[in-house]
Amino acid sequence: MAADAVYGLPPRELVEPSAGAAQLSPLIPGSESLEAVPDQSLESLTILAPPGTVERRYVLAQGLRALKIGGTMMVLAPKAKGGSRLAKELKAFGLEVAEDARRHHRICEVVRPAEPDIAEALAAGAPRLSQDLGLWTQPGVFSWDRIDPGTALLLGRLPPQTGVGADFGCGLGYLAHGVLASSAVTGLTLIDIDRRAVDCASRNVNDPRAKVVWADVRHGQPALSDLDFVVMNPPFHDGGAEDRALGAAFIAEAARVLRHGGKLLMVANRHLPYERPLADSFGAKVKLLAEEGGYKLYEARR
Ligand SMILES: C[S@@+](CC[C@H](N)C(=O)[O-])C[C@H]1O[C@@H](n2cnc3c(N)ncnc32)[C@H](O)[C@@H]1O
Repeated sequence: MAADAVYGLPPRELVEPSAGAAQLSPLIPGSESLEAVPDQSLESLTILAPPGTVERRYVLAQGLRALKIGGTMMVLAPKAKGGSRLAKELKAFGLEVAEDARRHHRICEVVRPAEPDIAEALAAGAPRLSQDLGLWTQPGVFSWDRIDPGTALLLGRLPPQTGVGADFGCGLGYLAHGVLASSAVTGLTLIDIDRRAVDCASRNVNDPRAKVVWADVRHGQPALSDLDFVVMNPPFHDGGAEDRALGAAFIAEAARVLRHGGKLLMVANRHLPYERPLADSFGAKVKLLAEEGGYKLYEARR
């Protein structure tokens, strides 16, 4: 393990992590895991803090756990996405905080004391088995404490699938559960960019037909081809900014991996104009199956 590490991709004009710094973000496939960094092993850590409060405090606490006593932690976040609360949150761990403001970000620097007060934040953000969901989950993962209404719509209308398929952006694996309820499904590849989701889905979908992969759907899945079906509730936020290109990339990759006659079932927020990317990839073989509660459910045939 390198002595220096970085969590996320902080803007270069604000901080420049050291050249050999290990990447620890769960949203960058192939990164090392922050949780797996041994206690008190890092000299320095730079964190682009996530926007969710429980998730952010957990990441900061994990960072402090992994730092050597006397090691430095630089934390930054856009002011409107948790940045304005950073200094207070760090002080609550018993730290002295040097704070700076630049380009709509708050930037805090701290030195790890011998015994930071991090136990509560570590527990609050840890993976857990939710009794309500009946699933392993973790704050920070998409819809971590409730079933997304779009997913519920897709599941409620999902005809039993047959053959080999994929679930793009699988999250905790709730949709995959529904798909695998059909005994005619012989294989299902679940893909997500979030390692925490992938870890939870691997525990939640305990089925020999399922394979869970930590990957970015936009980069293509060379191992997938000739699939009978793809299900997806594509992401509509990328790094916080609404990004239709992300959904369009999911649609294009679904079209690429499906066999001729294979089927895409996709749910999306009603206000997102996916008709064009669907038509670009599937021509006229696109049907609107349902429109409910702010969501649209599409079926597209290859
Ligand atoms: C709207 S959520 C749906 C999650 C899950 N299928 C469900 O229905 O609850 C979209 C998922 O896509 C994942 N995701 C976002 N960008 C991705 C990408 N480029 N490649 C793979 N997964 C991605 C997110 O981590 C998130 O879990």
